[in-house]
Amino acid sequence: MTAQLIDGNALSKQLRIQVAARTLALKAKGVTPGLAVVLVGDNPASQVYVRNKVKACEDAGLHSVLEKYEANMTEADLLARVEGLNQDPGIHGILVQLPLPAHMDAQKVIEAISPAKDVDGFHIASAGALMTGMPGFWPCTPYGCMKMLESIGYDLKGKHAVVIGRSNIVGKPMALMLLQKNATVTICHSATPDLKAMTLQADVIVVAVGKRNVLTADMVKPGAVVLDVGMNRNDEGKLCGDVDFDGVKEVASYITPVPGGVGPMTITMLLVNTLEAAETAAN
Ligand code: GUN
Repeated sequence: MTAQLIDGNALSKQLRIQVAARTLALKAKGVTPGLAVVLVGDNPASQVYVRNKVKACEDAGLHSVLEKYEANMTEADLLARVEGLNQDPGIHGILVQLPLPAHMDAQKVIEAISPAKDVDGFHIASAGALMTGMPGFWPCTPYGCMKMLESIGYDLKGKHAVVIGRSNIVGKPMALMLLQKNATVTICHSATPDLKAMTLQADVIVVAVGKRNVLTADMVKPGAVVLDVGMNRNDEGKLCGDVDFDGVKEVASYITPVPGGVGPMTITMLLVNTLEAAETAAN
């Protein structure tokens, strides 16, 4: 059996058309959704990410500003800038690109963002809202994964979902979202003794480790749905995920490719969160 692809580019295109339409409607009421992207330092990967985020905003009709600062900016200056954006009525979403330079406390900077503008969903108030099922912004990558499952009409109720990886940005929020949809959830990580024994029981597997070939065909129950959050380079320098795609696609029922899978969905959900922040501010 060969798995069906869940195409993140195609799904993103559909969702971004809806974002553009809602943005137009909001603009007609005199409100243009605005995202501020703050980049400190010159991390090359971060520069690519922020450029893609700003371009996606422009393409969907949202207003965006990219603020770039030198790596030697003080934490106090960055906190003051975040507070300025908190007070700016034209800005509905604030994203401080991570990683920050080592002399800064990233969590302190994130906590300085107003929860009403925390479109990354990284603020402790957003994490608490997700945990308790209250309204709040969901982190974009796991939120995008949920949209991918929704796009194939997958009902999580009673299913066993295994999440590999326990980061605050993907693994932990992913587990909470799956739980909220009534899946039985197992979180696996580097200290899990027998990963294969866990994944073989899974109906849905989300892999978010940041290492190639974490999941191979022999670890997957036939018909399972596999979502690959990884973004790595193989020996030839080509982009690849955490999943051995060629092997696993012969066992799974659905699988996300890398590139063109979860990646574009992350930016799409950032647009959705920013639009919703603006809609809430307008009402
Ligand atoms: N660095 C890598 N991914 C992300 C993300 O989704 N948001 C922010 N702010 N920084 C990141």
